[in-house]
Amino acid sequence: MEWTHLCGENMVIIDEKWIDDIWAKLEKKLSRIALSKRGTLPYTTGKGKSYDDKSKSDVSWWTNGFWPGMMWLMYDATKKEEFKITAENAEALLDDAFKEYNNLHHDVGFMWHISAGANYKLTGNKTSYLRNMYAANTLAARYNLKGGYIRAWNNNWDGNDEKGFAIIDCMMNIPLLYWASRETGDDRYKYIAMSHADKTLKYHVRDDGSVYHIVNYNPETGDVDDALGGQGFDKNSSWSRGQAWAIYGFTLSYIHSGENRYLNTAKKVANYFIAACCDDFLPKCDFRAPAEPVLYDASAGLIAANGLIELSRVLPEYEKAMYYNAALRIIKNIVDEFADWSDDSDAIVTHCSVCYEAQQHLTLVYADYFLVESMNKLKGVNTFLW
Ligand code: GLY
Repeated sequence: MEWTHLCGENMVIIDEKWIDDIWAKLEKKLSRIALSKRGTLPYTTGKGKSYDDKSKSDVSWWTNGFWPGMMWLMYDATKKEEFKITAENAEALLDDAFKEYNNLHHDVGFMWHISAGANYKLTGNKTSYLRNMYAANTLAARYNLKGGYIRAWNNNWDGNDEKGFAIIDCMMNIPLLYWASRETGDDRYKYIAMSHADKTLKYHVRDDGSVYHIVNYNPETGDVDDALGGQGFDKNSSWSRGQAWAIYGFTLSYIHSGENRYLNTAKKVANYFIAACCDDFLPKCDFRAPAEPVLYDASAGLIAANGLIELSRVLPEYEKAMYYNAALRIIKNIVDEFADWSDDSDAIVTHCSVCYEAQQHLTLVYADYFLVESMNKLKGVNTFLW
């Protein structure tokens, strides 16, 4: 039986030919970059041609897992060794981040779960298992028992003392903890993940489904001291990438724990996201910002699209279509408007923004990662790294 949905019925948004065409372009471009950028940890080309390299300058940088993660996704889809070799090489480069341990932060999930965790999942590599366990224990150790949250950073946001900072992005780091519980048979990691998710659900998610980027808790009591605008326009605005992390993150907490409160929260933040970008399905950097300047964040769209696809998969038949079709629209429109398939740049997705105030409309490696993840899903490869 076909079910109706809210955003238009029986509309062909993406067909097999489009998927095959985009996939061929992805494989061609990434086959070249996998070789030319082997031995580096790329983050951005800025608005220029060549990827930078974080392996020497900033090995603890939060995005350093996305390059190997993308290589593992390509390897799983193609079984071409060139992608595997580049992924393994990048994973080894990340070992230097363990050595400068005090620079590590809550994004150890982004750094290792889709690099070492992917390697272990796809090949059974025992060293990769250990790396991911070190990362999981580092993340678990950031849990504030009195506050009930995972501390995000280490005193570097405008010089603030950040003992009480928790950020919405962490919902994408805690799948590492669910994994550690499954691997060890010890639920203590999962309990930390769920405690953090519950606190986030209560204090980051507003009644209307929008979210705060940063909540500052009293580290001795867990009471809310304040919320901050973070990378968005303003404290009470709606930073679109934060919204996207919330959609995907709460969906993942549901998948890993089976708790309906996370599923309902995922739907709530997804409903808000879809409503906020349904004019052209090209998410602005902040959904509550002045009309000018027009600032997009394609990375937010691609993260959200992957979350929406996973959300649609776990919902009953009559709820799936709205979320799935919104994901297809976002992917299609971002690829049509913001993909660079030329050899003029190492990166593919343009018009990504780091923050509302700075570093706008450039490329970011995680946008390309989430493009590959979404194209894998549309192609039926379904590598699940989270
Ligand atoms: N985790 C930081 C960001 O999404 O930019």
